[in-house]
Amino acid sequence: MASMIPMKEFADRRRKLMDRMAPDSIAILPAAPERVRNRDVLHPFRQDSDFQYLTGFGEPEAVLVLIPGREHGETVLFCKERNPEKELWDGFLVGPEGAIERYGLDDAFPIGDIDDILPGMIEGRSRVYYPLGKDPVFDNRVMDWVKVIRSKVRAGAHPPGELVALEHLLHDMRLYKSAAEVKVMARAGKISAEAHCRAMKRARKGGYEYSLEAELVHTFMEHGARSTAYPSIVGGGANGCILHYIENSAPLKEGDLVLIDAGCELDCYASDITRTFPVSGKFSPEQTALYNVVLDAQYAAIDAVRPGNHWNHPHEAALKVLTQGLIDLGLLSGSLDDAIASEAYKPFFMHRTGHWLGLDVHDVGDYKVGDAWRQLEPGMALTVEPGLYIAPDNENVEEKWRGIGIRIEDDVVVTKDGCRVLTDAVPKTVADIEALMAD
Ligand code: GLY
Ligand code: MN
Ligand code: MN
Repeated sequence: MASMIPMKEFADRRRKLMDRMAPDSIAILPAAPERVRNRDVLHPFRQDSDFQYLTGFGEPEAVLVLIPGREHGETVLFCKERNPEKELWDGFLVGPEGAIERYGLDDAFPIGDIDDILPGMIEGRSRVYYPLGKDPVFDNRVMDWVKVIRSKVRAGAHPPGELVALEHLLHDMRLYKSAAEVKVMARAGKISAEAHCRAMKRARKGGYEYSLEAELVHTFMEHGARSTAYPSIVGGGANGCILHYIENSAPLKEGDLVLIDAGCELDCYASDITRTFPVSGKFSPEQTALYNVVLDAQYAAIDAVRPGNHWNHPHEAALKVLTQGLIDLGLLSGSLDDAIASEAYKPFFMHRTGHWLGLDVHDVGDYKVGDAWRQLEPGMALTVEPGLYIAPDNENVEEKWRGIGIRIEDDVVVTKDGCRVLTDAVPKTVADIEALMAD
């Protein structure tokens, strides 16, 4: 399926990357490999995020090569050849000609010819950028191509002197989302929000955690988002305290909360929403009290997402509200400053308040520049997801709190003067959730 990102934008990204590459260098980037699920059944194919970012080309068995200054074309794709017999079984292939015509590459060759052609392209370039150390099979292939050139030094060949990780250049570019990317991410966020609303409305019928997972998938698929961005977490009761709970097999119990952390992937872009709501449609007093602490922490963190602040500001803002809330409810004692300094909150809040979001749910990009937290700038996309988890066996707190797990997560993009929440179409106040569930 064609990408929702305009083809020109992919060309601009390749140009920008080439402009950042050292003179006399070449970049080599493989498509994702296909993975066997069992015997002759493959996992659904998902393109490598870096490859997707630079091409929008959705097939496996392809290699992108960027050769700044090459006379016969600076951007080259090796890909599968068209083959009517194979296409009858497995579907349409773009082929090298299609890669030039439809994907805007300068030049393209059959993937089967790469060993014959690529060493000649590397020869004379002093530096090779590639995903160094990511996949041992590809590492070996790069070395094999380099060895071909080394074997010809007596005939005057110049092998490259440096093999360099491509990620650093590329991942900094990926951190800043374009208007087209934000549009896709907003659409993904909207679909996921609708899915969470559907799950909330249907939770009252009881059933199992997987019953709600099915409701989410229904909405994702209905809107053409065929994959989740990560395995959906549906945790009823104390399962909500298990951060990466994906078993999703327990019955839902009246009186429990259910924590759903799920988002669709659209055009390879992730969305990532968490909501926590009562199976019965009504929060208990303890659930309400803890919930409102998490919600206030999330508001404070979202408020801290703006240019002028750095990456850790939203986390610090959330941490203050969460810790003060724990003190006010009697789950912690002492002063706020002491509880934060001693990390007394850690048994109840043990993760960060967010992560970069984009083609990967935990997206690429540095969080620190040198020793300093990264400044937030327009176009950066991140999640805001504070939580509180009272372990069912925590004997340091009153029994009434135990087994309550709450997280509230939204996706935001930094704007000129603040941020835009992409996932606000799903309610998150106690009143709004109860109203939706009563509907
Ligand atoms: N769903 C993964 C995360 O929230 O980080
Ligand atoms: Mn999440
Ligand atoms: Mn997240």
